[in-house]
Amino acid sequence: MNYRASWQSPSNIALVKYWGKHGIQLPRNPSLSFTLARCLTKMTVEVNVDAALPGLTVMYDGWPRPAFEAKILTFFDLIGDRFPWLRGSHVHIDSVNTFPHGAGIASSASAMSALALCLMDIRDQIGGPNSKPGGEWWQEVSVVARLGSGSACRSVYPGAAIWGVADGIAGSHDAYAIPWSDRIDPLYRDFRDTILIVSGAEKAVSSTAGHALMNDLAYAVTRYAEARRHLGVLADAMSRADALDIFIAVCESEALQLHALMMSGPAPFILMEPGTVAIIKEVWRYRRDTGIPVCFTLDAGPNVHLLYPDANAGEVMGWVRDVLVRHCADGQYIEDHVGSGPQRLIG
Ligand code: DP6
Repeated sequence: MNYRASWQSPSNIALVKYWGKHGIQLPRNPSLSFTLARCLTKMTVEVNVDAALPGLTVMYDGWPRPAFEAKILTFFDLIGDRFPWLRGSHVHIDSVNTFPHGAGIASSASAMSALALCLMDIRDQIGGPNSKPGGEWWQEVSVVARLGSGSACRSVYPGAAIWGVADGIAGSHDAYAIPWSDRIDPLYRDFRDTILIVSGAEKAVSSTAGHALMNDLAYAVTRYAEARRHLGVLADAMSRADALDIFIAVCESEALQLHALMMSGPAPFILMEPGTVAIIKEVWRYRRDTGIPVCFTLDAGPNVHLLYPDANAGEVMGWVRDVLVRHCADGQYIEDHVGSGPQRLIG
């Protein structure tokens, strides 16, 4: 028997960062993210449950990618009890990202959430636990996505998500993310994220190695406490329209703390490039001179995410084109915004 499912799922950008994990992909601190609209993985998974030769093939952008197979097989081992038919099946995965190659954008959140969605969809087709897409279904997708890549568990919800037990956030959990879009002011529901591609090089340090560094870091305990505090402050600031200054202060502090942590270990590394620092200084200057509430956040890499209200898009994009683009590799940037979450694809 053959089963097939196709989903698209977005990337997300953390405002309060997940950095440090334990056990089986459990976070050391809660995180909060915006779900993106345009940085997507589109994936089709085909499962032949009575294949003569069980196994896995992975295609990306139309080409075989055996290099991705080891990570996916490790993931299949972790989720084997939920999807027992995976063991005797042949699985074929075909995916493509909507964001450009060489843009230095991590695809694990969009790819692993898309894979979780396809597997859950196929489980429903096979007739596994009798769950139809509802709140619990999405929660289980989030659990499965987390086992593939921690940050992927936040990609399954529209708007915004919180992952990890957080003080005062009812229902928050380390095993899965919870939707947070209904709790934020409409100002944030169509926030812009213009991703300035300072370097398109592959990640210099894998997330796994980065998280592992936290295990030996003297500042780790303080960092986890600070992240928990930031999450409370940010969740409160985003529930209203009059606290953009607090939103900005927390987002930028989180971004710089993430990079400061990477610079502080026994084997430190610097993921910012000169262009990253130049853009940060331009953001501070522009905000001071114009009063426009634009701020930045950073991932574990050199690219800068510019965050700002949709109402300011015209003037901010003019400034991006006039001033910031010169710091971007080949002038590349991606105009993204807060999005509506994953979608089932026909075919
Ligand atoms: C800096 O989710 O990529 O983007 O769980 O090992 O797959 P693994 O790590 P990953 O780490 C993301 C780190 C981050 C911050 C964040 O997204 O919260």
